[in-house]
Amino acid sequence: MKLWGGRFKKGTSDLVNDFNSSIRVDSRMYKEDIEGSLAHVKMLGKQGIIPKASSDKIESGLNEILTRMENGVIEIDSSSEDIHSFVEGTLTYYIGPCGKKLHTGRSRNDQVTLDLRMYLKKAQKDIISDILSLQEVIFNKSKENISTIMPGYTHMQKAQPITLAHHLLAYGEMLKRDIGRLQDCYKRTDEMPLGSGALATSTYPIDRIAVAKDLGFSKITLNSLDSVSDRDYVIETLSALSMIMMHLSRFSEEIILWCTNEFSFIELDDAYSTGSSIMPQKKNPDVAELIRGKTGRVYGDLMTLLTVMKGIPLAYNKDMQEDKECLFDALDTITLSLKTFTGMLKTMKVNKDTMRKGAAGGFTNATDLADYLVKKGEAFRTAHGIVGEIVLHCIKENKAIEDLSIEKLKEFSPIFEEDVYKAIDLFTCVEERKVIGGPSSQSVNIQLDALKKFIEETKGGL
Ligand code: ARG
Repeated sequence: MKLWGGRFKKGTSDLVNDFNSSIRVDSRMYKEDIEGSLAHVKMLGKQGIIPKASSDKIESGLNEILTRMENGVIEIDSSSEDIHSFVEGTLTYYIGPCGKKLHTGRSRNDQVTLDLRMYLKKAQKDIISDILSLQEVIFNKSKENISTIMPGYTHMQKAQPITLAHHLLAYGEMLKRDIGRLQDCYKRTDEMPLGSGALATSTYPIDRIAVAKDLGFSKITLNSLDSVSDRDYVIETLSALSMIMMHLSRFSEEIILWCTNEFSFIELDDAYSTGSSIMPQKKNPDVAELIRGKTGRVYGDLMTLLTVMKGIPLAYNKDMQEDKECLFDALDTITLSLKTFTGMLKTMKVNKDTMRKGAAGGFTNATDLADYLVKKGEAFRTAHGIVGEIVLHCIKENKAIEDLSIEKLKEFSPIFEEDVYKAIDLFTCVEERKVIGGPSSQSVNIQLDALKKFIEETKGGL
């Protein structure tokens, strides 16, 4: 059913009907649309804007439609203009002319942003909950790997020894911030726009606060022009989602590297790997690669809406209908990415020995050798120079620092004594870094406790 047409002499072309329609995209908001209409019509009845008998009849009609849609008895008609037209049309078909009173004092312009806010509030919470599940896996994997030594890198060159727990918990921190951003977006999504009408509210004595309370919003929007044309809450959510994807993509890139033949730090479970149609030996990290790839797609969704919005004068313009497709695409992509990534991480096998061997190569204890000299009185810059010469010598001799005899070391500096070997043992290098934020078990336990507390508190607040 068309909601307009009175002022037209002939029908729109099929092409325009199709072009104009958003039902393929917005039908997923049918529940929010009906719930929003329920709150609206209850308020209309209570305020005496329509007779109580009419609002009761509409209410039971809407409830009936919702049940039938949930049971699959009513199917969405794909030729409708949008979900709002479909629900109103179905209502009138079910309960008769009384259904035509539903839209009193409202416009699709305030209705669509209400629906979207309701849909998004739930989606934001669902994503937070998916991130929490990933954080739980990070927590458990880190706990198992507090003493799994691995090389830490800068410039993709081996730098200093760390532990796998320390490395994984870096992502735990990123995801904490990601949740914080979503919680912040939630606050601004949680503002109720209905009553703004097409752009300038209405002359009916509507009660916007009652509708907000009924629908579980903590406040109402304050300017009707802004209310119907604001999509900041979608854009900032897309931005937060882009950041999450960026984090997952970096993590994916490391997983892809770690399971190469050259690294062999980890092995992905068969259930999270794929094969090649031609090369029988292959086991590919497609999940991680896809997440890396889909990150571009979510960035695209953000850019789409930023671009759509940039030239729109106040208030509502039809351009804004494009908001939902990119938002839903990003929500779907991130949800699948988070869930698959979590499963992949949970089931991945860690090759602890290979990681440790990796940390033993590349002079990752060179800084500790310099620090040894400093702790015995040498200036750091001088110590740095001495160790540089030692490394050069080792490269020439194809040896690790710890392979050199104490006599040889003394040729570079008389300060060296037998205790140097303990000081540059990888275990010492890691465990002595007790600074908060560092790789020692002591520091990592602080990070683990903080993550645990964060997970519990956030879960409690959902
Ligand atoms: N389907 C539209 C949207 O998603 C809502 C309808 C507003 N249309 C209008 N002609 N005022 O934005």
